[in-house]
Amino acid sequence: MQLIDGKKISQDLKNEIAEVVAQRKADGKKIPHLAVILVGEDGGSQTYVNSKVKSCEQVGFKSTKITYPDTVSEDELLAKISEVNNDADIDGLLVQLPLPSHISEEKVIESIDPQKDVDGFHPISMGKLVAGMPTFLPATPAGIVELLDRYDIETEGKHCVVLGRSHIVGTPMTLLMSRKAKRGNATVTMCHSRTKNLAEITRQADIIIAALGIPEFLKADMVKEGVVVIDVGTTRVKSDKTKSGWKLKGDVLFDEVSQKASFITPVPGGVGPMTIASLLKNTLSAVEMNEN
Ligand code: GUN
Repeated sequence: MQLIDGKKISQDLKNEIAEVVAQRKADGKKIPHLAVILVGEDGGSQTYVNSKVKSCEQVGFKSTKITYPDTVSEDELLAKISEVNNDADIDGLLVQLPLPSHISEEKVIESIDPQKDVDGFHPISMGKLVAGMPTFLPATPAGIVELLDRYDIETEGKHCVVLGRSHIVGTPMTLLMSRKAKRGNATVTMCHSRTKNLAEITRQADIIIAALGIPEFLKADMVKEGVVVIDVGTTRVKSDKTKSGWKLKGDVLFDEVSQKASFITPVPGGVGPMTIASLLKNTLSAVEMNEN
């Protein structure tokens, strides 16, 4: 079994991006600038947003963090998005999800300028992905493809089972794995909460991408020998062994499944860090697109 080290690969990617940014500075070109909007006090979202901002600093990007209490009105949030859309210095904008229930996520996502949609969640970005046109790829699925590529894991003709159908991971992941491209060309089965005989399907998989958000869902008796396992789950569960009082659990029962897997991602340190590296890559693309 080989452990897929997302922390190392994301650091390699960040180093590559930092080199490009340093060269841009030397050439007098624009420094990429990412704006992140966070609404509310959710601990997980705060951690993600802080890591995104910190990663911007590490690679030499400018960043702007905008925070609101969870009482902010939808109109106020939409007005801020419009302001950022019109700010020529800002290249990329993301609004951290989930949002409080009185705010429509759909409206918010649709209000982001597609040219600044570095999360790739806007219907225009999603539509382009479906149509096979160049676009911002959602960060987590793009990070997973990058991991498969850097570990030289063959996907062509393989049976890839995606667990979960979210707009953020499951759906775009299914599209990426089946597209006609290197690290695509797989036969993909998408499973979800209504799938019958799920273990029968996962046992046929050469590659499993687990993005259900159910801690330790995938067990050893649900996979075949030699499977490649990508764990996207990051559920916070109570723990009296950590200072914070919680720890992150993936969707895979790691100790069991790793015994049968040929490659597997750990949680934390697998897919998570790759999401941020992909976001930085998209922000760099946003600047480059505006120049051309
Ligand atoms: N919440 C969980 N994952 C993501 C993500 O990739 N982007 C945003 N904006 N919110 C998220």
